[in-house]
Amino acid sequence: MSKVTVVGAGNVGATCANVLAVNEVANQVCLIDIKEGLAEGKAMDIMQTAQLMGFDTIVEGVTNDYSSTAGSDVVIITSGLPRKPGMTREELIGVNAGIVKSVCDQILKYSPNAILVVVSNPMDTMAYLTLHALGLPRNRVIGMGGALDSARLKYFMSKALKCNANDVDGFVIGGHGDTTMVPLTSCMTYKGMNISNFLSKEDIEEVVKSTMVGGATLTGLLGTSAWMAPGAAAASVAESIIKDQKKMIPCSASLEGEYGMKDITIGVPCIIGKNGIEKVLELNISQEEMEKFRASEAAVRKTTEVLKEMKLF
Ligand code: LAC
Repeated sequence: MSKVTVVGAGNVGATCANVLAVNEVANQVCLIDIKEGLAEGKAMDIMQTAQLMGFDTIVEGVTNDYSSTAGSDVVIITSGLPRKPGMTREELIGVNAGIVKSVCDQILKYSPNAILVVVSNPMDTMAYLTLHALGLPRNRVIGMGGALDSARLKYFMSKALKCNANDVDGFVIGGHGDTTMVPLTSCMTYKGMNISNFLSKEDIEEVVKSTMVGGATLTGLLGTSAWMAPGAAAASVAESIIKDQKKMIPCSASLEGEYGMKDITIGVPCIIGKNGIEKVLELNISQEEMEKFRASEAAVRKTTEVLKEMKLF
């Protein structure tokens, strides 16, 4: 038996629960929200697709009843406000830190061994908060930003190359912010060959830029944060844990000296398996990429300082 709880039944949480069910990632999914009836409604709507989609996962929705989350292997935290057009993720810290902290206070009572996947923004800082508020070892708290940003990168690569998105590879490290993410051009490949064999420097720069503002572009189009790819990205991290897939997924992890960084939660390539973050990979990235990563580190630290001043843990 495997169970995943998704905290927050908004667009991202409900989409995540739907992907978990359709892909039969776990036997049970518990969707929980503070708004009366919302999680129950979204769960019922998902369950009414079970026969249409042919899945066996049971999705249950509850209002604020954390006892229903008991025994979860993975808990995905999506709670908090989404961004509005023109807003940065960092601006959400004032409201979302309090919300995420209140969620943290409940989860481990009922699922003491759960691995936590953090989605709420500003994502790197909310992962830092979760880790420190709960005093967990670093393997148990994973920020999902890099999984999403890397999926977006592959989308923009496939558009530029006019090819199938499954034929390209690449990933993004650094913070999950419009100016802080670092798409690694040295690792962008089409069928194993570096993208520079196929695209001009300018075109690659365009792919990088589009990826970095990928979330903001969608917020502008939709009037609120995106949810399809964010929900699916969180579900993909949960899947690698539940099925012990040991996939390399760029995630926000607490660094303990890797890349010369400590006391920070930031996007790096991780091996994700049944124990959560099983390994942080230290890549031999170019000097230019390392400089961008360092600038990203400084920006993420700035937001984390704001969090520390809130004295929530
Ligand atoms: C995004 C939000 C979820 O990137 O951070 O769409």
